[in-house]
Amino acid sequence: MNFTRNTELFLFLIMLAITQSTSQSTTTGDVITITKTANVTKPGCQSQCGNVTIPYPFGIGPGCFLSEWFEITCNTSVNPPRTQSGGLIILEFTDYTFRVANKVASRCYDPFGNITEDKPAGARLDRASPFSFSQKNQFTLIGCDDFALYVGLPNFTSGCIALCSKPEEVVNGSCSGVGCCQTSIPKALKFYYTSVASMTDTNHTTIWSFDPCTYSFFGEQERFTFNGVSDFMDPNFRNRTMASVPILVDWVVGNLSCREARNAGVLACQANSWCVDSDTGVPGYRCICNNGYEGQPYLEPGCHDINECADPNNLCNGVCTNTPGSYTCSCEDGYVGDGLKNGRGCAKKKSEFPVIKLSLGMGFGFFAILVGIRWLYFVIKKKNLVKLRKKFFQQNGGFLLKQRITTNEGNVDSTKVFTALELEKATNNYAEVRILGRGGYGTVYKGILTDQRVVAIKKSRVMDETQIELFINEVIILTKVNHRNVVKLLGCCLETEVPLLVYEYVSNGTLYNHIHGIGTMTWLSWENRLRVAAEAAGALSYLHSATSTPIFHRDVKSANILLDDNYTTKIADFGASYPLIKHKFPRSFGVVLAELLTGKKPLCMDRIEDERNLATYFIMSLKGDRLFQILEPRVVREGTLEQLQQIGELVKRCLNLTGDERPTMKEVATKLEGLRKFTQHPWASQHGDDEENANLLNVENQETDLYDEPINQHSGIGDISSGFSINTGLVYPSNILR
Ligand SMILES: *[C@@H]1O[C@H](CO)[C@@H](O)[C@H](O)[C@H]1NC(C)=O
Ligand SMILES: *[C@@H]1O[C@H](CO)[C@@H](O)[C@H](O)[C@H]1NC(C)=O
Ligand SMILES: *[C@@H]1O[C@H](CO)[C@@H](O)[C@H](O)[C@H]1NC(C)=O
Ligand SMILES: *[C@@H]1O[C@H](CO)[C@@H](O)[C@H](O)[C@H]1NC(C)=O
Ligand SMILES: *[C@@H]1O[C@H](CO)[C@@H](O)[C@H](O)[C@H]1NC(C)=O
Ligand SMILES: *[C@@H]1O[C@H](CO)[C@@H](O)[C@H](O)[C@H]1NC(C)=O
Ligand SMILES: *[C@@H]1O[C@H](CO)[C@@H](O)[C@H](O)[C@H]1NC(C)=O
Ligand SMILES: *[C@@H]1O[C@H](CO)[C@@H](O)[C@H](O)[C@H]1NC(C)=O
Ligand SMILES: *[C@@H]1O[C@H](CO)[C@@H](O)[C@H](O)[C@H]1NC(C)=O
Repeated sequence: MNFTRNTELFLFLIMLAITQSTSQSTTTGDVITITKTANVTKPGCQSQCGNVTIPYPFGIGPGCFLSEWFEITCNTSVNPPRTQSGGLIILEFTDYTFRVANKVASRCYDPFGNITEDKPAGARLDRASPFSFSQKNQFTLIGCDDFALYVGLPNFTSGCIALCSKPEEVVNGSCSGVGCCQTSIPKALKFYYTSVASMTDTNHTTIWSFDPCTYSFFGEQERFTFNGVSDFMDPNFRNRTMASVPILVDWVVGNLSCREARNAGVLACQANSWCVDSDTGVPGYRCICNNGYEGQPYLEPGCHDINECADPNNLCNGVCTNTPGSYTCSCEDGYVGDGLKNGRGCAKKKSEFPVIKLSLGMGFGFFAILVGIRWLYFVIKKKNLVKLRKKFFQQNGGFLLKQRITTNEGNVDSTKVFTALELEKATNNYAEVRILGRGGYGTVYKGILTDQRVVAIKKSRVMDETQIELFINEVIILTKVNHRNVVKLLGCCLETEVPLLVYEYVSNGTLYNHIHGIGTMTWLSWENRLRVAAEAAGALSYLHSATSTPIFHRDVKSANILLDDNYTTKIADFGASYPLIKHKFPRSFGVVLAELLTGKKPLCMDRIEDERNLATYFIMSLKGDRLFQILEPRVVREGTLEQLQQIGELVKRCLNLTGDERPTMKEVATKLEGLRKFTQHPWASQHGDDEENANLLNVENQETDLYDEPINQHSGIGDISSGFSINTGLVYPSNILR
């Protein structure tokens, strides 16, 4: 294939299209006229042009058409007379379309490859007109080494390729690229121009014997059938196709919608009709007779009632009564039934009593059957649901959990096993509006239990079976933990496909959001930062050592530290669906401290390369004695020199790459508690101040921000990054210093 040539041709076609579009006058060709008998013109107007009936809003002569676009001229200088609109020859009008004469592009060769005929084709509707080529037209190419493009203004180009090397490959009736190809056309197309070209350098010589000509054309799809090789060999193909495959044009009225036309008082729809907005891609509307009515919706007095009883195909055998828009069918006196041929017809009335008895009996029987079926349906449905829930319960380790609970491993009182129904009710059937957050773990919903307790319900992702025992362990461990700085797990539900966990609801969002600018930041005084850090460290330390089975939070980060109404720290997300791997002394707590100190995000692509990773940046700054330059100004203002130096050292130790050199959580907690005692700002402990801020925060910090955690949040410190770009909050420039 010669692509360069094809590209050239393509450009050439476009140029041609543009230059010709202004001068193009369309279509000559044989005229088919199809008669349509109806009383459709305005009184006193010519209704026929040759065999074509012209319905209003179209019309011939002044006052006979609705607007300039619908003016028709009847050219009587040819025989039969030609119905013309602009450059188009109209063959037939229907309610929403008209058909126009077609033109076929062709290219023919001689046995040596010389081109003997090369005719392009095209058609144009006025750009401002309410007409467009119907999508019931298709663009078709028939040939064996050819491609054809069509160009539609203003900027649309399409086309297709047909190939074949032997006549046997070509299948009658199939236009899928072998010998014939078709493409659909876009909406609101008003112009096209097409011509054919050869795909290969053999100039058609290898296939000439069975395919001397190639054709491309637009036309009503239903009217064209591909007859395979016999079409290639038919010398009359072009003339025949132009005569038998018209182009269908959609028309609408005006350029206003129904509402606009009605408001402007120019709606053309008359009585017993309704207005439908254009769906052709061209602005405008159509009028359609109401059901049971027919006639001219655009002309006074509008559509008239159909006398269905006069219709020989009417199904009424009995007494037919025409009504506006419809009809009724009944039986003569002494007969009963609906009178319909396809219904019960009419039957002679028996004595009254048995009839009543019979119908009563039948009615009751029917009713009984209905009730029975309904009852059976519910029984079966319920049975299936119960079965399914049992299956999930089993799959999610329900038996294991029950076993553990009965062997007294768990604190049975506080672990509530919720039913699926309870949680469905609580979350209003997992309504979208109840979603608090989404992430790699699953979705968190806000739920309201029947006792009015507000809870957070976590719906995990689908689990594989190996995780189930770990999940059960986790549930049991977490229910044993009772620490004021750890989010409380209230229970779980195992009857659903994925386990559901029910937590206490923590209303004030994540620490991450507070640090990085969601909500006001007045709350984040040095004192409060230190308190949150100490509380979190205390809780973690407690989990590491104080409980009988050590619990290691795998994913400590600011997004997992929640704050309640009083800004009390609550550590959340114990990776309930994740195995408990013993990280010796998790480094990430150091990152949280660094975040609290600097107000910067753990990983931020906006920073220069060396500073992207907060941990590295922090350590480097510390080494270079630049600690005070990276701290948030407020921290520098409020903290004492000694505090800041000590906490800097602590963070450095926490961030140590070698696990053994990091301090234990207990050490960290003790150190932070110690540092807190240094701070004795008199205002810091005043609670009124905090409460005022809390109210402010509540307004701005919608529930939906709670648990609003990034996807992949469990993937460790290296890629904490990815989801964090959503919060582009206030980050203080580090150079603003006293
Ligand atoms: C017009 O209609 C008449 C009769 O209905 C028919 O004989 C004649 O062939 C038609 N003319 C054309 C051009 O279709
Ligand atoms: C056609 O219109 C004329 C005049 O408006 C009217 O007398 C005649 O009944 C109409 N015919 C039909 C079939 O609607
Ligand atoms: C009528 O048709 C003839 C022949 O095609 C053409 O020359 C003439 O211009 C047409 N007249 C009008 C009014 O379009
Ligand atoms: C066929 O096309 C090639 C290049 O496109 C040309 O060189 C050759 O002369 C052509 N042959 C004929 C018979 O036109
Ligand atoms: C057709 O092509 C052949 C070979 O290229 C050439 O000799 C001949 O003159 C051409 N015939 C016509 C009618 O162009
Ligand atoms: C075609 O033109 C329309 C209107 O001018 C424009 O909205 C559309 O983006 C254009 N399409 C292309 C492919 O250029
Ligand atoms: C294809 O259609 C043509 C014309 O209708 C017919 O002569 C031919 O036998 C058909 N071929 C097949 C394979 O059906
Ligand atoms: C096709 O129609 C045109 C114009 O009506 C006529 O001149 C030509 O001879 C026709 N071609 C065939 C192959 O019938
Ligand atoms: C409708 O067309 C008229 C002229 O034909 C033009 O003035 C008007 O702006 C058009 N309105 C819309 C909504 O396209």
